[in-house]
Amino acid sequence: MERINLLVLSDDLDLRIEIKNLVADDEFAISGYSGFTPEGKTKIINKFPEVVLCAVRGEVPESVFGFVQDLLTAARGTIVILANDNISVELVNKAAQYGIRKVLPVDGIESAEFSENISTVYKLEQQRILDTNEGKKVRCKALGFFGGKGGTGKTTLAIGVAAQLAKAGKRVMLLDLDLQFGDVAMALDLDTKNSIVDLVQDRGGITIENINGFAVEHSTGMSVLCAPKSSEYAEFVSPNHVEKIIDIMRPYYEYIIIDLPASFNDATITACENCEEIYLVYNNEILSLRNAKVCYCILEQLHQREKIRFILNKFEKGLVKAEDFEEMFQTKMFATVPADYPAALSSINKGLAVTVAHPKSEISKGICEIADKIIEVHTGVVPIKEKEEKKSALFKFNKR
Ligand SMILES: Nc1ncnc2c1ncn2[C@@H]1O[C@H](COP(=O)(O)OP(=O)(O)O)[C@@H](O)[C@H]1O
Ligand SMILES: [Mg+2]
Repeated sequence: MERINLLVLSDDLDLRIEIKNLVADDEFAISGYSGFTPEGKTKIINKFPEVVLCAVRGEVPESVFGFVQDLLTAARGTIVILANDNISVELVNKAAQYGIRKVLPVDGIESAEFSENISTVYKLEQQRILDTNEGKKVRCKALGFFGGKGGTGKTTLAIGVAAQLAKAGKRVMLLDLDLQFGDVAMALDLDTKNSIVDLVQDRGGITIENINGFAVEHSTGMSVLCAPKSSEYAEFVSPNHVEKIIDIMRPYYEYIIIDLPASFNDATITACENCEEIYLVYNNEILSLRNAKVCYCILEQLHQREKIRFILNKFEKGLVKAEDFEEMFQTKMFATVPADYPAALSSINKGLAVTVAHPKSEISKGICEIADKIIEVHTGVVPIKEKEEKKSALFKFNKR
């Protein structure tokens, strides 16, 4: 049986240990501990635990209720339970007003009873989600960035879009599936020894706890699961692994952004099959156009054509125009991102997403437009833009 993912919030370190002893190991996986702090909130949004257990001794301060209120706005769908040693009717009523599902005692209760109470609330909530179809509203989207040519900007755009979605408050996993030459870790200057290979080889198997354990938390708030450091490890990751990893991540993230290699191998094909959308990243030069055609035909044979969205990256006025692509594929370009070499180069050198290093650059504006469009298509909500960003990046670029 899958264990229920639980995060413990308490400013009292002893109480955290008491709670750990109270919850049954075989039923719950504790994904972390935190205080009622902004870091605690970030942890919850990133890890998206199924249950958050707030533990307080003595009178429950107003700030804890305020924290819960904010939390439930930011991480919809999380179940909050309060554990306290001084339960009164007033407390239970107040807790209910703030959306806390259950108030449990911390003293004089057996571990079995404590755990059963939590799992009953959890099961009831699962049933409610099933009955109301609510789960579909927060459905995850897996988005692959692909193209049959190296250097077109797949990684740059995948990183930029993922960082921008995280900045917009979305729960994002950036998955580097360029298994031989993945460079997300280097591009983001991530300090990690762990990669997807450690995950698939771990004795514990591919579980959400292991995924969280091997992924790195980036300063933008997104999680990143890196490719192996050395290309010879690529073969350890099978298509089945890829499918399972994406499947297991889905309930915990709103977006899984997948950076793919410039070739069709089994893992890439499986990733494409498991994505909702495939962004084909091209440049406006003749070889790119030809390559786009080849990729398009292969994806069509693999019955993935409906998922394709074209992104024309490093756009410069030149021989091949956006319209040429559109005419060839009889489809509108999803987005056009201008060439901006100084910004791209400097962000790589700084180990930052270009949207973080140079948010006002033309390339970042192009990336933000992609992220906004993704959110709009997914949720139907148009993200609020600053006034000066109303004109498209391409419009401004052409004006220069
Ligand atoms: N819009 C852009 N303008 C200028 N340079 C870009 C742009 N997008 C990407 N680059 C640069 O192009 C190079 C290749 O990009 P990368 O994202 O690694 O490509 P890929 O993943 O497709 O191989 C990098 O040096 C990157 O900084
Ligand atoms: Mg790449």
